[in-house]
Amino acid sequence: MTLPVVGAGPPSTFVAPDDPLRDRFARQVRYLRVSVTDRCNFACTYCVPDDGIAHRPRAELCTFEELERIVAVFAALGVRRLRLTGGEPTVRAGFVELAGRLRRVPGIDEVVLTTNGHRLPELARPLADAGVAGANVSLDTLDPARFAALTSGGDVTRVIAGIDAALAAGLAVKLNAVALAGVNDDELAALCRFAWARGVVMRFIEHMPLSSGALYDRGRELSAAAIRDHLATEVGALEPSDRERGIAGPARYWRLVDAPAREVGIISAMTEHFCDACNRVRLTADGQLHACLGHDDAVNLRDVVRAGGSDDDLARAIAWSVHGKREGHEFQRSGGGAPTKHMIAMGG
Ligand code: GTP
Ligand code: 5AD
Ligand code: SF4
Repeated sequence: MTLPVVGAGPPSTFVAPDDPLRDRFARQVRYLRVSVTDRCNFACTYCVPDDGIAHRPRAELCTFEELERIVAVFAALGVRRLRLTGGEPTVRAGFVELAGRLRRVPGIDEVVLTTNGHRLPELARPLADAGVAGANVSLDTLDPARFAALTSGGDVTRVIAGIDAALAAGLAVKLNAVALAGVNDDELAALCRFAWARGVVMRFIEHMPLSSGALYDRGRELSAAAIRDHLATEVGALEPSDRERGIAGPARYWRLVDAPAREVGIISAMTEHFCDACNRVRLTADGQLHACLGHDDAVNLRDVVRAGGSDDDLARAIAWSVHGKREGHEFQRSGGGAPTKHMIAMGG
């Protein structure tokens, strides 16, 4: 069948390589990020696009059955780990059931999620019971007024209760904060202490010029080096930590020289980017498979399913996408002009 692609499509001569999950730069795709909705119950200033959020109508979302089928093909090709993202994944109706169903797809060993935490007070336990192993929770500030302003009305006390519920339910928790000058740079140490008091790792993210919109005050991005400088001054000397082998994400980890159990991760997508070690692809809620967060190229796997495509057709579409995976993003060069897609639809 003809593949539903955004960007240049495959030539008719395209033959899937022996390992469809190995790209032209010898990078091996090990995990799939699945955005289950483009909706969110928050509207973070650095995430909401200039032109607002045009949500996909429900009929355009992959159904649970379509997601199971697509994930099963990925699993047959060798993907073992799923990260469920959004928007905010927990606002998808039936999310706990969906997580459980995807966890049961043969070959899938681990399902985790990235969430703003607002619904974790109720959902942490059912998610753990459904087989979800962990949650990365966004926590940009501990200050209630700042949190409400940054997220457009979010309640930080609920998110903290959600983090504690996740820990009580046995989920592996990591905390994420996008580091921004004048927004939360005076709280980096407090965020670390909050995380460490709970035995979890705090991670700071360099802002990517992907979708920041009208609410976002440009020029506040903190570099990984600036984050490390802040931390060295305010929490103590850091040394590299070897946390996270296996199917690791993009964070580089550090630990306090004087207290090695206290770890902090830095996700330096901009100044020290990690594209050469990229091991993931991402599916949007409406079925677009993007091999790179930093480019618009995509193939729509939902359309392959809805056109009556076979599992082999899906595998070929996946192979084409991985084969076309770019060497890296070009955020610096484009100055944010491309890609045109939004973080809220991509799930990071
Ligand atoms: P772990 O596997 O638990 O380390 O998760 P993760 O860091 O891969 O995922 P998470 O959803 O917590 O994302 C944290 C930050 O990393 C977000 O800002 C994402 O946008 C960013 N991120 C995740 N994957 C990529 C990637 O492939 N490229 C870039 N540039 N950023 C990414
Ligand atoms: N740059 C970097 N990280 C971002 N996130 C949202 N928008 C951006 C951006 N433009 C983060 C969220 C969440 C994770 C999925 O991505 O804060 O922690
Ligand atoms: Fe929602 Fe996450 Fe975007 Fe904030 S960063 S608006 S919580 S999707």
